[in-house]
Amino acid sequence: MTADRASGAAPAPATPKPRALSGIQPTGRFHWGNYFGAIRQYIELQPPADGASPGAAAEAYYFIADLHALTTVRDPARLRDLVRAAAIDLVALGLDPERAVLFVQSDVPEVCELTWLLMTVAPMGLLERCHAFKDKKARGLPADAGLFTYPVLMSADILAYDATVVPVGEDQVQHIEVCRDLAGAFNHLYGPVFTLPVPRLVEGGAKVPGTDGLKMSKSYDNTLDVFEDPAAQKKKIMRITTDSRPMEAPKDPETDHLFALYALVAPEEDRLRMAETYRRGGFGYGEVKKALVTAAAEHFAEARARRAALEADSERIEAILAAGATRARARAWDVLDRARRACGIDRSPHRPPPGRTS
Ligand code: TYM
Repeated sequence: MTADRASGAAPAPATPKPRALSGIQPTGRFHWGNYFGAIRQYIELQPPADGASPGAAAEAYYFIADLHALTTVRDPARLRDLVRAAAIDLVALGLDPERAVLFVQSDVPEVCELTWLLMTVAPMGLLERCHAFKDKKARGLPADAGLFTYPVLMSADILAYDATVVPVGEDQVQHIEVCRDLAGAFNHLYGPVFTLPVPRLVEGGAKVPGTDGLKMSKSYDNTLDVFEDPAAQKKKIMRITTDSRPMEAPKDPETDHLFALYALVAPEEDRLRMAETYRRGGFGYGEVKKALVTAAAEHFAEARARRAALEADSERIEAILAAGATRARARAWDVLDRARRACGIDRSPHRPPPGRTS
């Protein structure tokens, strides 16, 4: 089939400025994997208040993926609480709603329509190879169509804002490849509608280990949470699995997940000193765990204080999310309009949402 490029589709911007976008599921409280793999990048990429900075994006969109979370959280009251807690956590950790657009995924209904358009070009085989679905199926667990088509919704999330860079942990790279494939297939059929994004990974944080050494993940029950109760966190840290080599044996810090966790939260100088202690040997893992408890508390102390203040100001969070949704919808509307026109779904009036200015 050839593209009908005379259908009124406006071309996508030729050289878009870097535009960052990412989403995070409110399926539980954020853990260190979420923070060091993704959230820290969100903050780094948000445009500075005072003009250009070499590392930052020109625009940044970050959202709480409540539609994705529906594939696991089936309790409406809990979902509402988790969405609100996620917004508070992100702002407390440094996401600045003046510099980045912070919103809730379901507040932008354009994304669901875009998902359908992409679904029509999504090969079954491609979705069958995606790991979330494949793993569940391999374990003999029932999987629903929401989980199966999860990467298509995620593709729409990214494409709806003409995002060029997607800060994520390693586990999301496959999904961004799917997004590129679907965008490419749509563009091939209908002309240059979508901008193809690239993933952005951070060194040392792309795959944060959990307390058992596997990838940190809510589903493995091996997380250390960012705003966890300190006593509960201490217990988890003291139970981190370690090997049984004798105390005097020198150890390689690079292959030890306890060290990897310590390295994330400890100041540079302490990290180097600890690496040296590992290589020398003659220390107990108990000492390292105690140092980790202290370093973690210090690392997140300021964010914890900010969180407490935000928690007491629920109107502020609601206002941030409402303003974010308006800005996000304005952008998504334009992209959806472009996609609709390109594929010939433009009979009925497609009314812009309130707040669309361009
Ligand atoms: P989610 O909610 O599972 O995870 C949010 C972010 O945290 C990263 N992450 C990790 N990074 C390093 N080490 C770990 N152990 C670790 N665990 C989690 C994830 O890579 C992710 O960046 N499908 C997405 C949410 C989503 C999305 C999007 C992301 C929906 N639409 C559009 C980007 C763009 C997810 O389930 O992330």
